[in-house]
Formats: sequence, C-alpha cells, structure tokens
Amino acid sequence: MGKTVYMPDSTLSRKSHISSMAQYLDMYKSSIDTPEEFWGDIAKQFHWETPASPNKFFSYNFDITKGPIHIKWMEGATTNICYNLLDRNVKSGLGDKIAFYWEGNDPDDYSRLTYRKLLEEVCRFANVLKSKGVTKGDRVAIYMPMILEVIIAILACSRIGAVHTIVFAGFSADSFAERMLDSKCKVVVTTDGVWRGQKLLCLKEICDSALERCKKLGHEVETCIVIEHLPRLSASQNRNGITEENGDISPEKRNAFGSKIPWTEGRDVWWHEEMEDASTSCYPVWVGAEDPLFMLYTSGSTGKPKGVLHTTAGYLLYAASTFKYVFDYRPGDVYWCTADVGWITGHTYVVYGPLANGATSVLFEGTPFHPDNDRYWLIVDKYRVNQFYTAPTALRALMKFGDEPVKKHSLSTLQVLGSVGEPINPEAWHWYYKIIGHEKCSIVDTFWQTETGGHVITPLPGCTPMKPGSATLPFFGVLPVLLDENGKEILGPGEGYLVFRRPWPGIMRTLFANHERFETTYFKKFPGYYCTGDGAHRDEDGYLWVTGRVDDMLNVSGHLLSTAEVESTLSAHPSIAEAAVVSQAHPIKGECLYCFVTPNEDVEFSEKLTDELKRKVREKIGPFATPEVIQHAPGLPKTRSGKIMRRILRKVAQNDRDIGDISTLADEGIIEILFQNRIEIK
Ligand code: WT7
Repeated sequence: MGKTVYMPDSTLSRKSHISSMAQYLDMYKSSIDTPEEFWGDIAKQFHWETPASPNKFFSYNFDITKGPIHIKWMEGATTNICYNLLDRNVKSGLGDKIAFYWEGNDPDDYSRLTYRKLLEEVCRFANVLKSKGVTKGDRVAIYMPMILEVIIAILACSRIGAVHTIVFAGFSADSFAERMLDSKCKVVVTTDGVWRGQKLLCLKEICDSALERCKKLGHEVETCIVIEHLPRLSASQNRNGITEENGDISPEKRNAFGSKIPWTEGRDVWWHEEMEDASTSCYPVWVGAEDPLFMLYTSGSTGKPKGVLHTTAGYLLYAASTFKYVFDYRPGDVYWCTADVGWITGHTYVVYGPLANGATSVLFEGTPFHPDNDRYWLIVDKYRVNQFYTAPTALRALMKFGDEPVKKHSLSTLQVLGSVGEPINPEAWHWYYKIIGHEKCSIVDTFWQTETGGHVITPLPGCTPMKPGSATLPFFGVLPVLLDENGKEILGPGEGYLVFRRPWPGIMRTLFANHERFETTYFKKFPGYYCTGDGAHRDEDGYLWVTGRVDDMLNVSGHLLSTAEVESTLSAHPSIAEAAVVSQAHPIKGECLYCFVTPNEDVEFSEKLTDELKRKVREKIGPFATPEVIQHAPGLPKTRSGKIMRRILRKVAQNDRDIGDISTLADEGIIEILFQNRIEIK
C-alpha cells in the first residue's frame, strides 16, 4: 500500500482554493490550535441575528468518565439556515442564478429553479406548514423522490424552525412507520409516485400503510401533504415506463393516476391546492445555534435505527466549508451529487453545502442506467458539470458496460470527482481517474458518516497527492486517532480503531430522545474519543486507509445495515427457528448479506421459503437490504454458552477452510455440513 501517488493536475492547483500542501498544513494547524478563530472567520460570511458569546464559542466534553457528553458551537448565537441559504444569496445579487437544474427520470423531463424562485416557493410552503399547526421544534417527515419539491419542503422546515426527518423513499412501509413513530412527527410530506428507470414506485400507497401502522402503534400523524408528480411528466415517460408490475395500467389511466391514489379525507391534502393561496413571503424564525435542524435515522448494530440529531450553527459552518474546499467549488461552477436526499450525503451535499455557497447544482431523479447506461455522462455534458460526486458501487456497476458508453461524451468540463459511502477499490478508482476524469481531475475519496455531518477524512483537489483507495488526511478541525484494543493510541504507521479526539462543528449532538444510547454507542468503549465503528490503517506518509466496519454492521451499495436487523426479520418468520447473517464481499455492491437459516423441525427448506424470506426482508427493511444468499443451516456454530460464532460463518461464506481456533465450539460436526451447503455468489 501507499506506493503509487498521483499528483493533482497543475492547472487545477493553480486556481484552487487550497493549492499546496503547505497551505493545507498551515490552515489545518490553525483549525486545531485556535478553533474559535478558525471557525469564527468562516462564520463571518453568514448572517447571525444575535452574535455568539465570544467566551462560549466552543465547548464540549468527550470524556464520559467526567460527566455527560456534550458538544456546543456558537452558543448564544441565533440565526436561520434557510435565511442564510436563500435570502442572503438573493440579497447579494444571486436571485437570478440557477440553484437547481432538475433532470427527470425521462430525458424529456427537466426544469430549473433560480434562487429567487426557490425562496418564494419555500416561503409559500413554510406558510402551508404553519397553517397545519407546525411550529418550532415540531418534526416533519419527508418521504419523497428527487424532485424540486423535496428541496422546498426541507428548507420550509428550517425556515420555521421545524425539524425535518427525511426517510429514504426506498424504505419499506414498516421502516418508515418505525421512524415516524420514533420521531413523533406531526406532518408527513410525500408524492403520488415516481418512475425510477422502468419501474413505477407508488409512494403514496407505501406512505398510507406506514401511516396506518404508525397509528396502530400509538402515534397518529395529523396531516399528509401529497405532491402530484406523475401527471405532469412528459408523455414519453408514461409511454416508456411500462413494466410487468404496471403493464395493465394504460397511459390514460396513469395520467389520471393522481385522482386514483388512496386518500384519507381530513388527513390528506394536495400540495398544489395548499400552495395556491399561500403567501410568497414568510419571516424566518430565528433559532438558537444549538437548536435542532434535522434528524436522520441510521442503522444501529442492535437493529433499532438511531435518530441522529444535527443542530444549526455548527452544521451550517461545516456543510459550507467542506463543500467549498473538498469540491473546490468556485462561482460559476456546476456541481452534481448523485446521492438521494434520503441519505446524509443528500442533506449536506445536495442541499445545505451547495446552497450555503450560492452554488448551481443538478438534481437528478433517475438511475444511471435509464434510458441507457450512459445517462450520467449525458447529464455531465448537458449541464457542463464541473464537480461530480457519486458512490463506488455506482462506478462498479457502470464499469461493467465497458468504456464505450463513456467515450460517446466529452466530459471535458469535469475537474473534481468525488467518491463516498465505502472504500473505493483501486480498480474503480483508476477507472474513475482515467476513463471519467481523463487523468486531469482530482479524485476526492471522502470518508464520513451520518453522524459526522460532513467530510472528516478527505483529500483536497489541487492540493493533496492522491493514493487510490485512501481517504488520505483529516479535514480542518478534525483530529483522527487510531487506537489498539486496549485503547492505547497508535502513533505512526499501524492499524486500529478509527476514533476522533475532539468535535468539529458538524458532528451530531445526540440521538433523538435517547442521549444515553448516544453515549454508549459512541463514547463508552474508548473514553475521551468519538468512536466511528470503523477500522483504519495509517501508512508511512500518515495517510489513512479506512478498512471497514469493526462492529456488526455492513455496507451494501453504500447503505449501512446491521446484521441484527436482518437476523430479527428472518427469525420472525413462522417457519424459521434461528438465523444468522454475515457480510460477504460482492463485486458490485461492495458487501452483501449472506444469511444462514435454521428452519423449524417440521419445515422443509425450499426455494419457496427462500423467496418468501427475501421478500420479507425487502418488505420489512427495503429493497436494498434484500439478501444475496440464504443458505440452509441445519444448525449454527455456537459456543458452549450458546453465542453464535459469526467468525466461522464468515469463513463458510468465503469458502475459507482455515477456520482457526474452534475449541469453544459446542458441536464441531455442523461445520462440514455448512461448507457442503455453501452457495456461491453470482
Ligand atoms: C459508513 C457511514 C458518508 C455518507 C454515506 C454513508 C463507510 C463512508 C467511506 C469512504 C471508506 C466509507 C464507513 C462509515 N464509508 N465513506 N470514503 N471510505 N468507508 O453514511 O450510512 O452513515 O455510513 O460508511 O464504514 O462508517 P453512513
């Protein structure tokens, strides 16, 4: 590791915000030595209705043995994020600038929104929310596709101090219900449906079952606001999008889809009807620096999702500065992040970061494969994209089709290529660098988490020499440390637990309504540090190489999942006695789910059963969680105390007979049977 180094292109270096390692090191040092001054300077570009108290700019406790964990930035200050993203930019002359180019699933569908128009729409929707009784601190759930209204909904919440909780529209009704229940949201915003490639997703139907389930579990959402999206799509979308699932819907019917969707009078209202008379001005609600901005659920290793809570001032500073420096965004550039707003990447790098910088972005509704496998590259050329940000899993899926689909396009405007979600394998890195970037773009392999709010370990374009597969060095204000099993710091080269010694402005503040879980999950194992749950290796140059999760979590196509979550879904099936799930390498998804199930005594293991189990996981968690393999396990390897030895199951999944020490195993006989039943991943 660490041999091949790629230097940033000199043309890029000359004009970039941070153009040398000396400059980076200098700024890094001041961000660590004098954080108040460093972030205070960054804060100057924003509007603060009340300034921060100078002696309370930054305070924290990361050591659980000394008292409760707390993190505070800019205490005493009041502001409004929406005001900073929209009003401030409009006032400074960016009113007519495009905030978003919207590109639909079908290439015939596209539109755009200027900063001024976005502000008007946000005000209108903020007034709609107010009319539904939403006030500061109330939670609003958002279950929407990648359309302009999702941006409007998000910013309308922040304008009135409401806390948005976006649920990725690929989550099942059950997962959605669980999140609405935990967040006790008052209002939900959704859409009739959306086309993704050739598939029609009926979001309102899923939303309805989720609302019903949530009500049964004891929480009733008062209002459901529905955007009518399908009828306004181009005819070609409706013509092309015939699939098996919806082949019986004639185009006429589908155009009238809006009137056919399930409806609950008194609870459901149409977005366009509510917006009609709403005023285009809405005074922003000034909120405290540490008031909540949003919460976003992420998988927890116990199976119950964690409501990661981010607050206002620190998040704004961090989203804005990471966006500016990591993508080296300059006025006039066009930026495109392919992530869905349902994930943290979408929050920080589709919405908050770009708008805080007055940037122009592309918002894309579709998939990289529709109508053809060159859709991404077509869009890059169409909008002359300068910074492009995507996930390794997407790159690997596209690499399969070879270089031809890429070579049809010039891609000459690209300067920075970002990667996020999982370690990027060197093969994908090289493809990205050579075929997409023509060896003149910087690759920024950004390591971060829902919890970190923004990039924490990342190269800077035009500055950091790159090594394929390494996220390189810390961003400003971030102090990474590697610890050994005993919590001792590893200095110099080595491998260990990746932790952080000090908070940066964008780190989460708590888990919603569960500060105790926040403390145990992230601060208990190694007092004094924030524990990422990842392992990492540091090379001779001090570069960090994230090696992956050290807990029972896995990363499927950049989506974090817990094995416990899938295990409990499988074992809840009436025919299943027990289930154990391990992560297994997958050529495209990075990792996938390899499941072992023990059926009940009288149950036969069949294809029908495996199909049912897969469907169950899909329904319970979401399609991205569908198991790759379900293997019959007449028994599971267990210790004498009854603990499942997942280490051995991992070996079976990998077909690695070198299983190590099995002295604690209760029944050795089962191992051979498991190897014989093993299923190869296609
Ligand atoms: C986990 C966080 C950050 C937004 C998307 C995922 C893995 C993420 C990288 C990277 C190696 C990475 C880690 C991390 N991860 N980016 N560049 N290199 N690993 O957010 O769902 O909170 O997942 O994704 O394992 O802990 P998330």
